[in-house]
Amino acid sequence: MSVFKDGLLKGRTAFITGGGSGIGAGIARRFAAQGARVALLGRTPEKLEAVAQELRAAGAEASCHPADVRQYGAVDAALCDAAKIHGGIDILVNSAAGNFLAPAASLSANGFRAVVDIDLCGTFNACRAAFAHLTATRGCVVSITATQATVPMPLQCHAGAAKAGIEKLTRDLALEWGRLGVRVNSVAPGPIEGTEGMTRLAPGDTRSHLDRRVPLGRYGRIDEVADAVLYLVSPAAAYITGASLTIDGGAALLGAGPFLDLMGE
Ligand code: HXC
Ligand code: NAP
Repeated sequence: MSVFKDGLLKGRTAFITGGGSGIGAGIARRFAAQGARVALLGRTPEKLEAVAQELRAAGAEASCHPADVRQYGAVDAALCDAAKIHGGIDILVNSAAGNFLAPAASLSANGFRAVVDIDLCGTFNACRAAFAHLTATRGCVVSITATQATVPMPLQCHAGAAKAGIEKLTRDLALEWGRLGVRVNSVAPGPIEGTEGMTRLAPGDTRSHLDRRVPLGRYGRIDEVADAVLYLVSPAAAYITGASLTIDGGAALLGAGPFLDLMGE
């Protein structure tokens, strides 16, 4: 159940990268429940189709656009197709990302590049390709970053650099596109339960250990991130642009971050 009034996004279309799973799929579900039409982009058609079918069964309009965010031409074509199918694009959500734990000293140059390419360059590609569509509707962008963007975390230099880049890109695009009526914001989640991200970053025992290092005493939920994104795309946030909203139960207040123990002695 959402705390927002029903039909908040009625008549609007959201294009969601990484919409086939995890947080991106949760945002798609929340948006569709609020009346939005949704277009889902990711590399795996089966994952996109499964989410789209679920949304259609619940009465929403949903389309699938298999593509790699690293390929500008494919992203551009996907946005044009989605705009044609749904009659325009009002909201872009960038949730596609790749991540793994790796110490900087042994991370290969290609491993670093792969994550920056997906997260940062992929977000630029989608924003750039969405620009013409969003100026036409005076729409908005929300990118999913992570608290690693600002908090140093061990084994996360690649993801941290990529997410910090997205937060800076967010402020630059907000500055350039504000006069055109396009708002650009980001949301920085901390540890969110039941996601691929936490399966990769906090395997097994690490989990109960990390729980104790979150001031609110628990992991976040996908629907809590989705509600933060819903707020930023709603009229309630009409005067907010260039912002990063942290949703982490206070975990980043611990300075070096709840992942510090992963580094060992
Ligand atoms: C070290 C690794 C690695 C690992 C891959 N690489 N996995 N290095 N440790 N575990 C290196 C490879 O060796 C290779 O370098 C380079 O990365 C590219 O690998 P590919 O497999 O060819 O890349 P690609 O197919 O493009 O895959 C990208 C990926 C992959 C990131 C590596 O895991 C992926 O696509 N993930 C998508 C799903 C995902 O990660 N979801 C979680 C997002 S969660 P060499 O030098 O060998 O060529 C998230 C959580 C934030 O971001 C949490 C905050 C609290
Ligand atoms: P997830 O389920 O793995 O979501 C990532 C999605 O991105 C997948 O659906 C994946 O699908 C897609 N993707 C990956 N590489 C892509 C590419 N090159 N082109 C197109 N799509 C691609 O993981 P998640 O944990 O929900 O993470 C979602 C977002 O939240 C990410 O931005 C992540 O950094 C952020 N985040 C998560 C957490 C957390 O606790 N989980 C915390 C902070 C931030 P395909 O592989 O099929 O392409």
